[in-house]
Amino acid sequence: MTDPVLLISGASFKEDERARLAEAYPATFVDGPDAMSGVPEGQRGAIRAVAYKGHKPFGGAEMDLFPNLGVIANYGVGYDAIDVAAASARGIKVTNTPDVLSDDVADLAVAMLLAQARTMRLGEAHVRSGDWAKKGELPLNRKVSGSTVGIVGLGRIGREIADRLAAFKMEIHYHSRSEKETPGWTYHADPVSLAGAVDFLVVALVGGSATEGYVSKEVIDAMGPRGVLVNISRGTTVDEGALLDALEEGRIGGAGLDVFLNEPNLDPRFLKLENVVLQPHQGSGSVETRRDMALLQLANVRAFLEGAALPTAVN
Ligand code: 8YV
Repeated sequence: MTDPVLLISGASFKEDERARLAEAYPATFVDGPDAMSGVPEGQRGAIRAVAYKGHKPFGGAEMDLFPNLGVIANYGVGYDAIDVAAASARGIKVTNTPDVLSDDVADLAVAMLLAQARTMRLGEAHVRSGDWAKKGELPLNRKVSGSTVGIVGLGRIGREIADRLAAFKMEIHYHSRSEKETPGWTYHADPVSLAGAVDFLVVALVGGSATEGYVSKEVIDAMGPRGVLVNISRGTTVDEGALLDALEEGRIGGAGLDVFLNEPNLDPRFLKLENVVLQPHQGSGSVETRRDMALLQLANVRAFLEGAALPTAVN
């Protein structure tokens, strides 16, 4: 049997994704970084590439198991699970899958914003329970078009979200490290000032230590009792305890969340809340986009193994 050159790592890889990778290169599979030490020692030296999927930390200790590892190709735009500094120190390249998922993630952010503002969960329950016929109309909800939105993090995904919401005739404000060229959108150097100026706040930051708790208690408090927070980035970017307190106490209006600390085992306090729309980290989860992500990951593996320029290198 040929030794594997590719390690496929991640329990969430779909059958067809694994098969496509394994068809391209001799491969072996583990269900995540914790299981990498289970790769037989005799095979480790042959492995030159890892196709990674998931959010479990992948650090230097795991990289050191594979002395000839040259690339970690991540399935996803966010690579906060991978210790890129440790990879660089070992001469290992890291790649990701930007752009191909921006539309989907932006679509889901808008969907959550609309669902929360227009109380769609309540509406659905009202129809299904028969309460519509028995009790009549629901309380009125909240107009989105023409209102004001703040985007925290105006990168590729943040910009797609802003473009969509501009088409809803919304006034766009944003915060990012520096002011960007925009069609007249309002820049805030301080996220607290941004939160205080808008009806809806959408978080589209990158993950990782630099943005941990970036949407702080102060930012959340500045949103006020009608403010709605949407998070499409990483659970780590928001002070989750402060968010839960504010939601429970009605100090903010509501939230639409696709990401959580400790997902998929999210804090049970979320499940008791009525003023939230909760999604299972499925921003990029359409058939079309996941196929494009898988193909871009494979293209990066292929480029590395063939000595070509990496399509989407991170380091
Ligand atoms: C995940 C994501 O990669 O791209 C990202 O950063 O968070 C997602 O698209 C996907 O869920 C696979 O884990």
